[in-house]
Amino acid sequence: MITSQQDPGLLGDRVARFIPPDVDPASLPRSFALVEPLPPLGPVPDSWRVVPIYTRETRGHLATIRLDPDTSLYGTGEVAGPLLRNGFVTEVWATQPFRIEADGTPVSNYDERSKSLYQAHPWVLAVRADGSAFGVLADTTYRLEIDLREDVRLRSAEPFPIIVIEGDSPQEVVERLSTLTGRMELPPRWALGYQQCRFSYYPDSRVRELADEFRARQIPCDVIWVDIHYMDEYKVFTFDPEGFPDPSGTNAYLHERGFKTVWILDPAVKVEDGYGVYEEGVKGEHFLRDASGREHHEWTWPGDAAFPDYTRPETRAWWTRLTKAFLEHGMDGVWVDLNEPSPILPHGAELPEDLRHAGGGEIAPGSHAQYHNIYGMLMSKATLDAMREARPSRRPFVLTRSTYLGGQRYAATWTGDNVADWNHLHWSVPMVLNLGLSGQPNSGPDIGGFAGTPTPELFARWIGVGALLPFCRTHNALKGDQEPWSFGAEVEEIARVAIARRYRLLPYLYTVFWEAAKTGLPVARPLFFADPADPALRDEDHAFMLGGDLMVQPALEERAEHPFPMPKGQWRAFTFEGQAASGNRALPVLRLRPGAILPVGSGGQTTEEAAEGPLTLFVSLDENGKAEGQLYEDDGDGFGYAAGDYLLTTYQAIMRNGEVEVRVERRHGSRAATPRETRIRVL
Ligand code: GLC
Repeated sequence: MITSQQDPGLLGDRVARFIPPDVDPASLPRSFALVEPLPPLGPVPDSWRVVPIYTRETRGHLATIRLDPDTSLYGTGEVAGPLLRNGFVTEVWATQPFRIEADGTPVSNYDERSKSLYQAHPWVLAVRADGSAFGVLADTTYRLEIDLREDVRLRSAEPFPIIVIEGDSPQEVVERLSTLTGRMELPPRWALGYQQCRFSYYPDSRVRELADEFRARQIPCDVIWVDIHYMDEYKVFTFDPEGFPDPSGTNAYLHERGFKTVWILDPAVKVEDGYGVYEEGVKGEHFLRDASGREHHEWTWPGDAAFPDYTRPETRAWWTRLTKAFLEHGMDGVWVDLNEPSPILPHGAELPEDLRHAGGGEIAPGSHAQYHNIYGMLMSKATLDAMREARPSRRPFVLTRSTYLGGQRYAATWTGDNVADWNHLHWSVPMVLNLGLSGQPNSGPDIGGFAGTPTPELFARWIGVGALLPFCRTHNALKGDQEPWSFGAEVEEIARVAIARRYRLLPYLYTVFWEAAKTGLPVARPLFFADPADPALRDEDHAFMLGGDLMVQPALEERAEHPFPMPKGQWRAFTFEGQAASGNRALPVLRLRPGAILPVGSGGQTTEEAAEGPLTLFVSLDENGKAEGQLYEDDGDGFGYAAGDYLLTTYQAIMRNGEVEVRVERRHGSRAATPRETRIRVL
């Protein structure tokens, strides 16, 4: 048996790197997962518990990590199916899923058998029986198989280093992962609001009507999304002269009504003489070529198209420049799509692995096999750079379909083209949780399902739980309407209450996002975080935690009652006053951690409104009659907070002689406290 090369190896506090014994470390490609190269500090101590065993196979390299009994496995990025990943095989290869239905129809959505989805995360989190944990990061961009049927087995055609992270708890490992692979930047507050999307609202008058309808119906909403039909024949960086003749006017109309807008960009550029973007791309040598040097084309939305080579610094700069000019129309965020990258036809097509990436700067030239998995991440970065350059004093917002481990540094993600069925409703939760455990705190599903049409009941349940996930957007494909009011008056009322709950929870939610940006902890967390040593919580993936204090128990099964396991202590259920629909099955039960204080606002039609107004502190005392909670506040946009313009308030409650006393225990930051009424509600 060949074991790993251990020396040099220790990279930091409880972090070690292993390299196959027959490989020269200097011959390995640079890491794209790590924020910066990590020079080894010294040898791995003899007491180190998790040492990968490397062996050679005909197919390439295998690394085996032996597991103690009762070790639970998570992570592996974007995967459909249950939260607990023991028994699954995943292939780290950014993929637009595709399969043929029994009746011969090709469909590009996924289920729990899909081995790969859009995002690529070569990462496994392992929680031992005693609640201590470790993580395994295969530091490669090449295709990698993660086989969790017995132990952890990692396979790739190319040799790969493994970074092992140890921690006393899964939280510690996830936090440590984020010190290596980076953290999400604090998003603008509006990005925490409810968002409405469709493939596609067309023409621009429809977009305006939609905005008016939200306000007329008094359904809180912050963001309207604009999908590909705004383009002139799907050509990127163009506008349809009939449907969207005045994008700046459309954006201004929405801004006046308190909305932000996010518009889509696809990477593929239509091959067409006279189309400026394509001509510039050819001149600047921005497109991917095959081994013989010929520009490579594939069929995408606009027809035959060429793909920018984002490994080239000049190409990223070109993309950044085009996106900056695009942003002059007043978009508040950018959505980048199809960047696995994915041709549209023929179904299931991918770019050939032998295409050449030119690289440059810190990126060596290489094959598409090497750079496929980071295509979406490099595109997100070039897009983010455009947002930063265009509005240096505003926080950027980018959503991407594909990315790689560490991609949270550049963009939020959503779980791609899901389906309007009960399985996908359920998977919305574990998918977001496993992404969070893989370093991405800001993700969410297409609420209601992208493909197919939800029944009113399914939509109601989906918006009920979706309103409590980090990224909250309803989106659907070219079919029936999927707005909160599209399913009748009863569902409209449920949707209104579900979204209003999010807006009332905004002070807490924003505090949780701030914590995630600071520590790398997920926004939505698995229930087992409440007690990692409790085996009963390990596979729970209906209930989850929003931050550290709020438990969400959604009803995700059509008929059956899910038996929710409970962590120790008294997690008291609560509702918001004045909400008639509370108690409806579509609205998840909310419970507060014993010992927590939850800051709840008064809601509003936008997140800006919801950040103001009277505050209620929901107090749930622990068995010692004590509770504590935090509230983070800042401008909601801009970077003043980095220079101290924020306010972090810690509240404490204590039971004394039958009375609960609540006080501000301490405050951090130079921002003045907003004079506002503060009420107390003891659960
Ligand atoms: C892809 C995206 C989807 C989008 C559509 C059109 O299928 O996943 O969200 O609506 O393309 O742009």
